Amino acid sequence: MRASTGIPAQGYARRRRQLMRMAGDDAILVLPSSPERVRSRDTHYPYRQDSDLWYLTGFAEPEAVLVLVPGRRHGEALLFCRERDPEREGWDGPRAGPEGAVESFGMDDAYPIDDLDDILPGLLEGRTRVYYHFGRDTEFDLKLIGWLNRVRAQVRLGAQPPHEFLELGHLLDELRLFKSRDELKLMRRAAKISVQAHEAAMRAVRPGMFEYELQAELERVFRAGDAQPAYESIVGAGANACVLHYRANRGQVRDGDLVLVDAGAEYRGYAADITRTFPANGRFSREQRALHDLVCAAQSAALAQARPGVAYEAGHDAAVATLAEGLLRLGLLKGRLEKVIADGQYKRYYRHKTGHWLGLDVHDVGDYRIDGESRLLEPGMVFTIEPGLYVPADDTTVPARWRGIGIRIEDDVAITAEGHEVLTDGLARGADEIEAFMAAR
Ligand code: GLY
Ligand code: MN
Ligand code: MN
Repeated sequence: MRASTGIPAQGYARRRRQLMRMAGDDAILVLPSSPERVRSRDTHYPYRQDSDLWYLTGFAEPEAVLVLVPGRRHGEALLFCRERDPEREGWDGPRAGPEGAVESFGMDDAYPIDDLDDILPGLLEGRTRVYYHFGRDTEFDLKLIGWLNRVRAQVRLGAQPPHEFLELGHLLDELRLFKSRDELKLMRRAAKISVQAHEAAMRAVRPGMFEYELQAELERVFRAGDAQPAYESIVGAGANACVLHYRANRGQVRDGDLVLVDAGAEYRGYAADITRTFPANGRFSREQRALHDLVCAAQSAALAQARPGVAYEAGHDAAVATLAEGLLRLGLLKGRLEKVIADGQYKRYYRHKTGHWLGLDVHDVGDYRIDGESRLLEPGMVFTIEPGLYVPADDTTVPARWRGIGIRIEDDVAITAEGHEVLTDGLARGADEIEAFMAAR
C-alpha cells in the first residue's frame, strides 16, 4: 500500500506524461533519489526525498532512480528501487520493492536498483537527448557518464549514443511552478499548521525565556499536525533579529525586545514560510511600532501587485518604494526619495528581496525573469511576500533608540484567476492585531 501523499496516483501519472510530452520522443529523463547523508558515524540525517522525484512519483525511499523513456513500447515510466528484504525491513521499515512500484506507484515497470548498471546503458542507446540535473549529485553524475561511455564503446557495432545533454530543470521547473488544485490543498494545510505554530509561540513568549523554548513551541505544533520544519526555524530576540539567517536560537528574550520568528511547516513535501515579529512583553515601543507599521505597509503595497498579468518584480518595487519613503520620513535616511531608491541607499536597512517562489522547496524552482524581463504573474503561482527592516545594533548614523530593531513580516500568496489568495491569512499581522492577540492570551 502507498502511504497517502495527498496526490492521487493519476496525478503523478499526469505529471510524468506532461514532462515526457515536453521532452519529446527521442529523449530519456533520468532522476535519482536524494542520497542518504551521514550525520554521525552510523546515523543519518532525517531522509528527505528529492523534490523532483517526489513530484513525479510520491516515492519516499532512498536508493531509487526514475527513468522516463517517452514512447517506449515496453513501458515509459521505469523505477529502479530497493528489493524487498525481510531482514532489513525488520530494522528500517517496509519497502515497496519493484512489485510495489508497479502495483502501488503506477510504474510501467520496475527493477532492483542493483540492476541499474546493467539496464541503463541499453535504455540510453538510440535516444538522442538526455535530460538530467547535472551537478546536483556528483557521484551519480559520474555513474551516468560511465553508462554513456558504455554505449559509446559500442558505436562500431551500430549503437547510437545520445549526443545532447540538457538541463532537466528547464522543463520540470516550469511544471512545478504552477500548482494544481491538489497541491494548493496541501499548501493550505502547511500554511494552517504554520499559522497555529506562530500563534503558539506568540502565546508562549515571556521575557526571560530562551529562543529555543519558542522554537520548541513552534515545532511541537508542526509535529502535532503531522508536519515538520520546512527549514531551520529562526527565532531571534532583540538584535538577533537583524541576522537574516539566524539559527542559533540560544539567546535569552529580554523585556522590551521584539522577537522575530521565521518558521514554516512542511506538509507532504510542501512548504509554508511565515515570519512574524512581536514584542516579548506584549506591547510595541514607539520606535518598534513605527518600523513595524512601515514594514506592514510595504507588505500591503507588494500584496496589491499580486494578480495575474502584473510583473513579479512589481511587488518588490512597491515594497522598496514604501520602505524608502518611510525611512526618509522617520529620519533614518536622508536625501531625495528617487535617489535613495536609485542608489540603493535603502539597502542599508533592507538587504533582501521581497519574496520567492514557494512549493516543494521553500525557495522553490521556477524562473523569475524571461528574456531579461520580469515574468508576469499567472494563476497557480505561489510565492512569499516578506519585506523587512533591520537596523544594526552598531549603526551610529541613527539615534540609539532605533538601533538593534529587526522586523520582517512574511506571508504566502497564491495567484488566482481573480487576484490572489493569502494562504497564511488569519494570523495576527499588524501591531494592533498582535497586541490584541497577546493581551487575550
Ligand atoms: N525562511 C527563509 C525565507 O524566508 O526565505
Ligand atoms: Mn521566505
Ligand atoms: Mn521565511
